[in-house]
Amino acid sequence: MRRRRIYEGKAKVLFEGPEPGTVVQYFKDDATAFNNQKKGTITGKGVLNNRISEHLMLRLAEIGIPTHFVRRLNMREQLVREVEIIPIEVVVRNVAAGTICKRLGVEEGTPLPRSIVEYYLKNDELGDPLVSEEHVTAFGWASTQDLDEMMQYALRSNDFLTGLFYGIGMKLVDFKLEFGRLWDEEEMRIVLADEISPDSCRLWDINTNEKLDKDRFRKDLGKVEEAYQEVARRLGVLPEAGPVDMQGPQVMQ
Ligand SMILES: Nc1ncnc2c1ncn2[C@@H]1O[C@H](COP(=O)(O)OP(=O)(O)OP(=O)(O)O)[C@@H](O)[C@H]1O
Ligand SMILES: [Mg+2]
Repeated sequence: MRRRRIYEGKAKVLFEGPEPGTVVQYFKDDATAFNNQKKGTITGKGVLNNRISEHLMLRLAEIGIPTHFVRRLNMREQLVREVEIIPIEVVVRNVAAGTICKRLGVEEGTPLPRSIVEYYLKNDELGDPLVSEEHVTAFGWASTQDLDEMMQYALRSNDFLTGLFYGIGMKLVDFKLEFGRLWDEEEMRIVLADEISPDSCRLWDINTNEKLDKDRFRKDLGKVEEAYQEVARRLGVLPEAGPVDMQGPQVMQ
C-alpha cells in the first residue's frame, strides 16, 4: 500500500497511517552521530530497533506509562498514535558517559550519585543544546506541569528499564526519551513517543562493560550489527530468521 510520506528523519521515515490520528514509523538502517557529521549504515538496525522499541514500549505500558505505540505492522514498520512532539529530549543518566564526561570532566563509567535528568532542545542547527527547566518554561516549549509529568515518566521508566536490562546482563547507563501531546476531546495527555532502542540508550554488558549500543558506531569499535543483535536476542525479540534476513521490506521512493 502506498502511503503519503510525512517526514524523513535521520533514522526513521514517518508515513500517514491507515486511520486518522495515526502514523507509521518506518525504521531505516541509516545511522548518524555527532549531529549528522558522521553518517553510515548499520545493516538490520531498522528491523531490530522496530522490535526492541515495540517490546520496551509494551513493557512500559504495562506499568502504566502511556505510549504512542499501537502495533507492529511488519519487519520495519510500526503503527503509532500521531502526537505533537514536545521539542525537548529528556535524558536520564545513571553512569557517566558521552557529553556529561566532556562537559563536566567526569570519567566515563563513573556511577552517578543519583539518577540525573537533563533536557536538550531538539534543534539540529543548534546541535541539540542542553537547556534548563527555566529555558523550557520561559520559552514555552513545555509547561512546569508538562515537565513534571515527563520527569515522573522518565524516572519510572528508568527504574523499570534498569531492572529489566539488569535481568539480562546489561547496565542501563543512560537513555533519551521523547514525549508528545495527544488530544482526546478537550483533554491533553502526554505520552512517550519516538523510539527506545540501542540508538537512544547506552547499554553495557554487566560482566565485561562491553558497549552494546550506538557508541560502537560513534567510536568505530566494530561489531556494531552484532551489538544490536545481542540486545534483541537477550530481550527475546530477535526475528526468527535471525541475522540472515535483516533486510525486510524496503522503503518506497
Ligand atoms: N508518535 C509520533 N507522532 C509524530 N511524530 C513523531 C512520533 N514519534 C516520533 N516522532 C518524530 O518523528 C521523527 C522520527 O524520525 P527520526 O528519529 O529519524 O528523526 P531525527 O532525524 O532524529 O530528527 P529529529 O531531530 O526531528 O528527531 C522525529 O522527529 C520524532 O520526534
Ligand atoms: Mg530521532
